[in-house]
Amino acid sequence: MRILIVYSSFHHGNTAKIAQAMADEVKAELAKPGELDVDRVREYDILGFGSGIYFWRHHRAIFKLVEKLPNMRGKRAFIFSTRGAGPISIYHKPLKRELLRKGFKIIGEFSCLGYDTFAYLKLIGGISKGHPDKKDIKKARDFARRLVKSQ
Ligand SMILES: Cc1cc2nc3c(=O)[nH]c(=O)nc-3n(C[C@H](O)[C@H](O)[C@H](O)COP(=O)(O)O)c2cc1C
Repeated sequence: MRILIVYSSFHHGNTAKIAQAMADEVKAELAKPGELDVDRVREYDILGFGSGIYFWRHHRAIFKLVEKLPNMRGKRAFIFSTRGAGPISIYHKPLKRELLRKGFKIIGEFSCLGYDTFAYLKLIGGISKGHPDKKDIKKARDFARRLVKSQ
């Protein structure tokens, strides 16, 4: 099974750690949105899309990529993120909507906390310090393994 994980990670490299752990676990290829040949995306059986959460949604680089994709009718996808705090049901909604619009079938979602020093949070030493930690990485690995096994 060919799996591609596309991610953006700008703030502290939090999402990169999660993407790498998932990729190692299920032998997936990793790519940044800008590196991807959109015409070859259909060659993969499963695609993962992830980033940090910036202003209640995934990074705009992920949205830009999804916008450029051809119709992906029936192609399986999963969504992941790291976030300072707050609810994934709200944070994942915009990307989920765009992926569904492209015809993807969403087969799973994963999120964990990520060290956040945005704006005033820097003054208090940040929040979710130390995340993703070992437990988060293990959960990401377990998620990816179970997801692929269930397909
Ligand atoms: C500009 C900016 C906006 C952010 N907005 C949110 C937000 O709305 N909700 C949240 O939980 N975290 C927010 N965060 C925290 C990041 O989602 C969190 O630190 C994430 O782990 C960053 O991932 P990265 O290191 O892979 O870029 C924000 C961080 C930055 C820099």
